[in-house]
Amino acid sequence: MALHTPRKINSSPYLPFGDKQDAPFYGKDILSVKQFSRADIDYIFGVAREMEEMVRRIGSFDLLKGKILANLFYESSTRTFSSFTSAMERLGGSVIPINEVRYSSVSKGESLPDTVRSLESYADVIVLRHPEMGSAELAAKYARKPIINAGDGMGEHPTQALLDLFTIMQEMRHIDGLTVTMVGDLKYGRTVHSLARLLALYDVRLNYVSPDILKMPAHILEEVKQHNIPQAEFNCLDDVIAQSDALYVTRVQKERFEDLDQYEGVKNAFVITPETMESAKEEMIVMHPLPRVGEIRMEVDDDPRAAYFRQVEYGLYVRMALLAMVLGKA
Ligand code: ASP
Ligand code: CP
Repeated sequence: MALHTPRKINSSPYLPFGDKQDAPFYGKDILSVKQFSRADIDYIFGVAREMEEMVRRIGSFDLLKGKILANLFYESSTRTFSSFTSAMERLGGSVIPINEVRYSSVSKGESLPDTVRSLESYADVIVLRHPEMGSAELAAKYARKPIINAGDGMGEHPTQALLDLFTIMQEMRHIDGLTVTMVGDLKYGRTVHSLARLLALYDVRLNYVSPDILKMPAHILEEVKQHNIPQAEFNCLDDVIAQSDALYVTRVQKERFEDLDQYEGVKNAFVITPETMESAKEEMIVMHPLPRVGEIRMEVDDDPRAAYFRQVEYGLYVRMALLAMVLGKA
């Protein structure tokens, strides 16, 4: 028998007072989008819409009063870190912020399992961003409290994919029947790895536009294929822009390249300009997980189809929903 038996809070007889043990996702980790069904997504989006309504009406409320989130970030972040903080605080909870592990005992050489096992003594849920693929899974193996993967190297970014899908749903009112085109760094971009997997649960068509060296990994193409989703790869955006309902643009992930000359060669491979938008559908939306570093010209921002800052806001509601769910309050 394994020396360490993973034991999450929902298998503990000592439930925190007031937690709904039968709430979907209570005490669960969120590590990969592979764990979600369409029914789960409908449920999460229903809660996210309620969160949006509450934020618009009253701003903050005490659903998670007394709960504490540890934000443990080994990689830089603006949106994920701040939106989880805002989500927790709008729900009446509080946050332990570790956004620069340099100033924590990680700099003394402390391991990830020890770090999460210590933080969970103070917090009810841990949000983790880490440069290594599989790190969230490793942390979850050791932690008793829920771990939420906020990006594990070139692996996944499941909460981003949920907010991306929520964006498509809110903006287009449906997902089935859409053609989604992903552009840029499909090799290292963890957001597109998660999003392609999540979209494969729907009746969609996926186009992948990238330089040859940054193609969508074969194992993800294979997984998506298992769902009978039509997929096609391109080197040129002109071939597919006119048929796209959502254009998902990504940054070339400089930090993942071993050879910086190679990065220089592809960094400006695809740039969305007002001219690009001329051949796009009237109803198309342009998305980007952000940060952008030149892939979408600022002149595009005034186009009503530019949805990337609305996407940021949808992220708050989705993360509020996820926190309420894993903490047994939704
Ligand atoms: N912010 C997203 C991520 O952390 C996308 C990016 O950094 O390009 O994966
Ligand atoms: N989209 C996203 O994950 O942004 P940050 O890297 O700023 O958190």
